[in-house]
Amino acid sequence: MYKLFFNLVFKRLDPEKAHHMAFFWIRLASSIPGLRTLVASVLAPRDPKLRVKALGLDLPGPFGLAAGFDKNAVGIDGLTMLGFDYVEIGTVTAQAQPGNPTPRLFRLIEDRALVNRMGFNNEGSAAVAARLAARPKSGAVVGVNIGKTKVVPEAEAVGDYVTSTERLARHADYFVVNVSSPNTPGLRNLQAVDQLRPLLSAVRETLDAQTNGHVPLLVKIAPDLADADIDAVADLALELGLDGIIATNTTIGREGLRTDAAKVEAAGAGGLSGAPLKARSLEVLQRLHARTEGRLTLVSVGGIETAADAWQRILAGATLVQGYSAFIYEGPFWCRRIHKGLSALLAASPHATLGDAVGAAARS
Ligand SMILES: Cc1cc2nc3c(=O)[nH]c(=O)nc-3n(C[C@H](O)[C@H](O)[C@H](O)COP(=O)(O)O)c2cc1C
Repeated sequence: MYKLFFNLVFKRLDPEKAHHMAFFWIRLASSIPGLRTLVASVLAPRDPKLRVKALGLDLPGPFGLAAGFDKNAVGIDGLTMLGFDYVEIGTVTAQAQPGNPTPRLFRLIEDRALVNRMGFNNEGSAAVAARLAARPKSGAVVGVNIGKTKVVPEAEAVGDYVTSTERLARHADYFVVNVSSPNTPGLRNLQAVDQLRPLLSAVRETLDAQTNGHVPLLVKIAPDLADADIDAVADLALELGLDGIIATNTTIGREGLRTDAAKVEAAGAGGLSGAPLKARSLEVLQRLHARTEGRLTLVSVGGIETAADAWQRILAGATLVQGYSAFIYEGPFWCRRIHKGLSALLAASPHATLGDAVGAAARS
């Protein structure tokens, strides 16, 4: 049904316009109390065995919406209504910014992939903090993902992230330092340990001061890091007492695509997400798991489309998983399918709970 709708309507629309339209409907549905309850009752996770304790939180399941869909925290309850176990808002920057010129979002349908160069379009951390502060408590679990304002030079990045941390810390269930989007010039240089150490230390200190140490801190990394750099970030995260790592963001690579080369070329620069990212994202997770041996919470994202994909990440060491691109192709029943599939996979496995399954592939 959704596939038909996608082909007849969304496919003919500019992808960013389709996003705004779909997000508007989601928010509209969730603003009607009876409808919200009805939709949530159909789509929400129900299997208690899927409950996950992670990052000091008690979640209805492991499956969250990755950053970038709800950049300004305008639709958290609507997205939770669709069955996401948590929603990561952002990336939010200290200053409001328009992002890159449009068009800046492209579908590679044959690859079940997207290319985006949005460039952190967002209303800025003051506006987003005010919106989060005004939200009635709904029980939704909210991760807050922050990044660097484009016009702020790399040398002043720490202050920019600290400003956003001061504003947003008290509104987050967990906090993410994003240093891995390919669409802000120089941002990914912050992944180098010499740059990352002062940045993460300052954010950790600010976050702890604002919240009495109650909000977990994670760093989100790129799939394009060399293996030695992945190890270095993992070691640094352990050294600084971070709570976890989110892997991965989009890739600048374009290898192995089925889409016509001219179409890929026409999309231009940006981050590639969706199915083509699956293998590398899994590889990065496996490497992080081997390096950190269960001492950090690993959140796996990149090319997750099915329950089998999510299960594979859990077995490889992810306590939580996230997705974005497949939501565009799979539609509103996506979370329900993932949860039902995970329940079946768990029931057929030797593990009593999802928590028991985390990292099982590496132990066998
Ligand atoms: C249109 C779009 C915008 C995104 N914006 C952000 C962002 O602002 N911050 C971020 O950390 N990741 C962002 N991402 C990356 C996703 O959070 C995710 O890491 C990536 O898409 C891989 O997951 P997927 O293959 O399930 O899409 C964006 C992805 C897409 C497709």
